[in-house]
Amino acid sequence: MSDAKPVRFETEGDVGVIVVDYPPVNALGPGVSEGIIEGIAKFNADPAIRAMVLIGAGRSFIAGADIRGFGTDRKRLPLGSRTYDAMDASAKPIVAAIHGFALGGGLENAMGCHYRIASRAAKVGLPEVLIGILPGGGGTQRLPRLVGPKVALDMIVSGRHVPADEAHALGIVDELVENDATLRAGAVAFARRAADAQAAGGTLPRVRDRQDKLREAKDDPGMFDAMRKSIARRARNQKAPYNCILAVEAACTLTFDEGMKREQELFEELVNSDEARALRYAFFAEREVARIPGLPKGTAIREVKTAAVVGAGTMGGGIAMSFADFGYPVRLMDATEEGLAKGMQRIRANYETSVKRGSLAADEMERRFARIQPAKDYTDIADADVVVEAVFEEMGVKKPVFAKLDEVMKPGALLLSNTSALDIDAIAAVTKRPQDVAGAHFFSPANVMKLLEVVRGARTAPDTLASVMQMGKRIGKLSVVAGNTDGFVANRSRAPFNSEMVILLEEGALPEQVDKVMVDFGYPMGPFAVGDLAGLDIGYAGRKRRAAANPNYRKLPIADRLVEMGRYGQKTGAGWYRYEKGDRTPHPDPEVARIIKEVSAEMGVAQRQFTDQEILRRLLFSSVNEACKIIEEGFAYRAVDVDVMWLHGFGFPRYRGGLLFWADGIGARAVYDQIASWHQQYGERWAPSKLLRDIAEAGGKLTDAKAPA
Ligand code: 3HC
Repeated sequence: MSDAKPVRFETEGDVGVIVVDYPPVNALGPGVSEGIIEGIAKFNADPAIRAMVLIGAGRSFIAGADIRGFGTDRKRLPLGSRTYDAMDASAKPIVAAIHGFALGGGLENAMGCHYRIASRAAKVGLPEVLIGILPGGGGTQRLPRLVGPKVALDMIVSGRHVPADEAHALGIVDELVENDATLRAGAVAFARRAADAQAAGGTLPRVRDRQDKLREAKDDPGMFDAMRKSIARRARNQKAPYNCILAVEAACTLTFDEGMKREQELFEELVNSDEARALRYAFFAEREVARIPGLPKGTAIREVKTAAVVGAGTMGGGIAMSFADFGYPVRLMDATEEGLAKGMQRIRANYETSVKRGSLAADEMERRFARIQPAKDYTDIADADVVVEAVFEEMGVKKPVFAKLDEVMKPGALLLSNTSALDIDAIAAVTKRPQDVAGAHFFSPANVMKLLEVVRGARTAPDTLASVMQMGKRIGKLSVVAGNTDGFVANRSRAPFNSEMVILLEEGALPEQVDKVMVDFGYPMGPFAVGDLAGLDIGYAGRKRRAAANPNYRKLPIADRLVEMGRYGQKTGAGWYRYEKGDRTPHPDPEVARIIKEVSAEMGVAQRQFTDQEILRRLLFSSVNEACKIIEEGFAYRAVDVDVMWLHGFGFPRYRGGLLFWADGIGARAVYDQIASWHQQYGERWAPSKLLRDIAEAGGKLTDAKAPA
């Protein structure tokens, strides 16, 4: 950061312009609020100035408070002497000129101004709840006064970004300009009109003085309880969404100043909570994973403008949709005409479901669908900038595909495999351009799940890696790099959890008991219910492959028995649970309890009772241990890579930060001791990671774990 002041003052004739210039996104870092207050005082004191504009330099208005300052001893200005207090006290009109983002404290400052004008591409919102806090700069008091408590609740409890035209329709923004280039001039002209109106005897509108919209709460006093009820499931274990509702409720029942005090109290309850610390960690972890250690800054990026997908199955179709959804033309090809036709039909049906649900407009569906063109053979895809192979998960099927891609694809094309476990070097080795080959492991459903695991082979070129990361970002994915190890980082770190959950059954637990523990912890679904949804035959095939390759492989006879009985999950009406026809609700099945007992008896395993904590730790510690081994062996760069994969690939509750962040909450020492004790009790599968032991002995943190240099 340079020594330049983060806020500067300019004039355009009789209008003073307060410019926030604090790259990259004009967060309210040290000196920013003080600078705005100074500007308001300066221009109020200047007789040549009649009005002011508050604007951001660079790509955004103001992205909010500086999140790095939370949880530190950085002091906030006291209530009564903040920017918006200076705005409310200003004798001259102030116009907020919004481009890019006005989020959190950014929108709060804009709402402190007398007027707001925005560029059409701008977005506004109060996303504080997403980092475990609430809008603590008057947002919970001013927004309900501008748009009514119902809309305010929706915006504050969801944290969603509201596009400028919607913000205009809602009354958050007074006027729109077409683009960023005309914003400043538009705002200055607006400010002059405001000064003229004031000179003609008009009063300055202050949001704090408005009462009209608050009446909505008197007409519908049940709205707050209804909101609490509607979020009960997704907000379980969390406090921030509920404090947001309480604060908006306070806006409707207290005076403005009392409401501000209440907001402050509710904010203070949250800012240092475990939930807020975890969510802040997740926020920065998601940005950290984009930084690839050792990759030279400025590594050339290969431009991706067109894509191709080989394999029109469920995964291939979802991958094609991922490209099409973000505007890329994509060619989809399959080994058979029938496979291709089915694949195209499935894509169409998926889009139609979104239209029916109301999440996609019909004309947008047509645009997206039209971007996906069926390809008859390899010559049709040869000029694509990137090709993603998504054929059957077997080396014998994938290798010939890559040999063919090598033959036909234009030089410099990115050749990617969607394998979830196979050796990417062996795949690259069948081509004469292994430097262009990498893994692009999408998660199912590929068009929905945000995680993209980018697998770096031994010969993957740095610019290939950087280009795949960039491509991932462009198609809305969170891309994380993994090394080439069986299961890569995501599935390898998850594998022990998958075994452990079945081993628990051998020892006396039931699927519904394990699922309840994990749902109570915060997962959207329990792991057995997820297994039934995905299909149990997939895991079965993987186990057979691994058992054939490794004589010490820990078999899971209960899981095998179910599959051998034809219980594949939802698709066969029975798996770990039983299902009624046409209904996805899992029902505990006495037949499964019987099979578990029978197989356990055959195995000679004694049955016992489990506490919830033991179930939780058996599952998650097994993966913590494996994750440490993965980092220790250099297949993941650092802890955040694992944590982001768990958040976005496996539904790990975000307000718990991530697998390793969560384990740090228990303490590396305690985790290690438990694992060491289970090692004694259960044998090799619990052999502790050396890295975990070292961290525990040094009193360190798992989130600081790094691969060896
Ligand atoms: N504080 C500190 N750093 C921030 C920040 C913030 N509020 N917002 C973004 N940054 C940093 C990011 O960490 C990143 O840093 P890096 O380059 O070192 O990794 C850089 O700015 C660029 O951010 P993105 O990579 O996320 O850029 P995008 O263009 O993809 O997204 C954005 C921009 C939509 C503004 C996104 O960064 C974002 O959502 N930021 C958080 C917004 C937010 O939560 N605001 C509310 C803050 S809390 C608040 O205001 C409390 C108040 O009510 C009292």
